[in-house]
Amino acid sequence: MTTTPVPPQVPSHENPAALLQGRALGKQYHRGESANTVLRGVDIDIHAGDFTVIMGASGAGKSTLLYVLSGMDRPTGGEVRYRGARVDDLGERAMARLRAEEFGFVFQQPNLVGNLTLLENVTLAGYVGGGRDAGVVRQESERLLDRMHIAHAAHRLPSQVSGGEAQRAAIARAVINHPGILFADEPTGALNRRNSDDVLDLLSELNQGGQSVLMVTHDVRAAVRANRVLYLRDGELLGEALLGTYRPDESKGRETSLAAWLAEMGW
Ligand SMILES: Nc1ncnc2c1ncn2[C@@H]1O[C@H](COP(=O)(O)OP(=O)(O)OP(=O)(O)O)[C@@H](O)[C@H]1O
Ligand SMILES: [Mg+2]
Repeated sequence: MTTTPVPPQVPSHENPAALLQGRALGKQYHRGESANTVLRGVDIDIHAGDFTVIMGASGAGKSTLLYVLSGMDRPTGGEVRYRGARVDDLGERAMARLRAEEFGFVFQQPNLVGNLTLLENVTLAGYVGGGRDAGVVRQESERLLDRMHIAHAAHRLPSQVSGGEAQRAAIARAVINHPGILFADEPTGALNRRNSDDVLDLLSELNQGGQSVLMVTHDVRAAVRANRVLYLRDGELLGEALLGTYRPDESKGRETSLAAWLAEMGW
């Protein structure tokens, strides 16, 4: 594992190779006279094919950074570029379209539609997002549920499956439109260890298949899936650790060295 302070990133137009870029990202919340500064000039490059993790204490601004990078929220300063094109200033419709077509999202809670089966939840996202033939979407949804090891539960409602199964369906829904980036905010935060490992295995598998992943987590066991971990403190990126590609037989050693680095960062 190599660790460095995050070096100043070159201006985005000089580094078109990065898939997603934030430059001088700021986020302030105003309440009456007082302002709460949550992001303080974050420069960040997310590279295609990477499994990137953001860590940091509660309240450090991790979710805010993820939302601003993914177009779920707007920065109050700086800019976001996706595949080289500026996106933070898009209108609402164009932004919604970018999110639907290019980004996938997984949260702590699966947030499935309660009166649709797992399969219907996935196909619905496919119909809305991709502009593809319904039969193709349905076939791919079935294949994805199989790959997520929940084919047996395809025709059950979210209330009839376990939390882990529901979260796996949420991952299938998030990748049905082949997103350029899969964003995950504490995707294992509500799961027990076994379900959490299952979900992480799926994320690793997707990443090994070329899916770029950007995940926020508090859990070192989850973070070692990444090849790159960034540490955020009080709205500033303090450093990064490069872990190399994940291998299950190395996870204990990765956890130990990552935990030591996090302690250095003041975690
Ligand atoms: N809509 C909002 N209005 C005002 N302040 C907000 C809003 N959303 C977040 N904040 C504040 O911004 C700061 C960062 O919040 P954020 O949710 O990004 O932290 P986090 O690192 O994801 O924390 P956690 O690990 O607890 O999820 C917090 O102090 C929070 O109270
Ligand atoms: Mg958060």
